[in-house]
Amino acid sequence: MLQTQYNPTEPLLRVENLKKYFSAGKHQILKAVDDVSFSINRGETLGLVGESGCGKTTVGRTILRLYEPDGGHVFYEGTDLSQTSRAEWKAYTRKMQMVFQDPYASLNPFFTVGEIIEEGLLIHKLFPNRSERHQRVYELLEQVGLSKEHANRFPHEFSGGQRQRVGIARALALNPSFLVCDEAISALDVSIQA
Ligand SMILES: Nc1ncnc2c1ncn2[C@@H]1O[C@H](COP(=O)(O)OP(=O)(O)OP(=O)(O)O)[C@@H](O)[C@H]1O
Ligand SMILES: [Mg+2]
Repeated sequence: MLQTQYNPTEPLLRVENLKKYFSAGKHQILKAVDDVSFSINRGETLGLVGESGCGKTTVGRTILRLYEPDGGHVFYEGTDLSQTSRAEWKAYTRKMQMVFQDPYASLNPFFTVGEIIEEGLLIHKLFPNRSERHQRVYELLEQVGLSKEHANRFPHEFSGGQRQRVGIARALALNPSFLVCDEAISALDVSIQA
């Protein structure tokens, strides 16, 4: 597994001239993200604001390589993520997580909520002991205002706001140091958002 040393002179994340283009019909390209640069320090929060369709979600997805960038670079603590091997990239997926804008589309309907939250813990072998792992899932559910009893239910049995909380619990499960929150609390009511 890749060992990265925290370098205090480097920002946590540095995005340089990021580009993501989509094809939009014959001979047409849509420049959803065109030359975006910014950096984020450890512990810092950066908000992306703009009208619907301006490319906010695409920026987040391209940083996490859910979309392959068409140009530019993303550096995590100084390491160019496009230069990492598959095994190294896996280590980064533990550090970088995303809460998706649409929790219904991002939760596998065939998995229970407990299984959804547990998946990352299994992939990264964080809690090899089954009962400790389940304990961690229950803690995460409680952390987002749900309860242990919710673990055996499926995503369709939840309200929109509850599903969004499941997405938040999943993103927090691996204790990431970088979190993309794509309208992470828009489906929650104002008191819960706080
Ligand atoms: N997978 C895709 N394939 C083709 N076009 C896409 C894809 N994803 C996004 N787009 C287009 O890229 C542009 C930016 O979309 P994006 O979802 O990033 O916007 P957004 O700023 O997040 O909007 P919203 O505030 O509505 O969530 C839009 O014109 C959208 O239609
Ligand atoms: Mg969006």
